[in-house]
Amino acid sequence: MQFDDRQFRDFLTEKDIHALVDDLANKINADYGMNDRILLVGVLKGAFVVMADLLRRLHSDVEVDFVRTASYGKSNTSCGTITMLKDIGVDVRDRHVIIVEEIIDSGRTLKYLYERLKGANPLSLKIATLLDKRSKRVVKIDADYVGRVVDDQFLIGYGLDLEEKCRNLPAIYALKYPN
Ligand code: IMP
Ligand code: MG
Repeated sequence: MQFDDRQFRDFLTEKDIHALVDDLANKINADYGMNDRILLVGVLKGAFVVMADLLRRLHSDVEVDFVRTASYGKSNTSCGTITMLKDIGVDVRDRHVIIVEEIIDSGRTLKYLYERLKGANPLSLKIATLLDKRSKRVVKIDADYVGRVVDDQFLIGYGLDLEEKCRNLPAIYALKYPN
């Protein structure tokens, strides 16, 4: 498979992805009651695809909101700083908040969001991610719900972008030759 002159190989089929989302949803459904008010907070842009699939599998009362961050500095050094481009617009004090990511890499984005949301005193605060590049972590943060731990490789599709493109691919592909 080729996108923008770069070669990709199949990584996760639509079926694989749906099995991972089922698994995430089953774990979340097991942990929350039908009357719990869950607020899913998706991290734009990448997480909107998994959010849409995850929320339709949840049994509790679910509301959604989104945040958008930007990171400055090289993503592979520890000096990357995160700023907020779009904050949540909901009072979280009576909500069980679950931050939803499509992938965790260095963990900087999530660490920042976690601390920020924690400061707003939600009833509880957890993290769900479809994919986890655990070996790339530079700050200490772990997700409570993880679809799959993956090796360090560049992935596209199902919300994951290649310079803003390819988010619409229903399956996930891995770059063959890192450049
Ligand atoms: P972190 O702050 O380094 O954990 O950055 C995580 C964010 O980087 C994810 O939410 C994605 O938007 C992006 N990202 C990380 N790895 C990939 C990848 O393999 N493909 C596309 N985007 C990625
Ligand atoms: Mg993201």
